[in-house]
Amino acid sequence: MTKVKVAGINDIPEGELKKVDFNGEPLALYKLDGKIFATSNICTHVGCELDHNYAMHGEVVECTCHGSQFNIKTGANVLPPAAEPLKTYQVSVEDEDVFVEA
Ligand code: FES
Repeated sequence: MTKVKVAGINDIPEGELKKVDFNGEPLALYKLDGKIFATSNICTHVGCELDHNYAMHGEVVECTCHGSQFNIKTGANVLPPAAEPLKTYQVSVEDEDVFVEA
């Protein structure tokens, strides 16, 4: 199990997405009601980078390239054209530091 500090909790605006690097992989971090969630930053449809193409709808992130939607807590694909879920990552917060595990 690898646990890596990826951000400070105050680096992530409430209700927004922040791209970070995790062992060379681009991850999207989200803060919702003060809690942090992490998914892949790459849409499973045809690979748009979410940090450049997104809209938040509560716990759902929309990839604005073609409108696919995913639940940020589970990664579940809730609206096509994407057919596959987003990979999610385990997040923990210690003091003001955000860690991701994989
Ligand atoms: S690449 Fe995200 S909806 Fe098409």
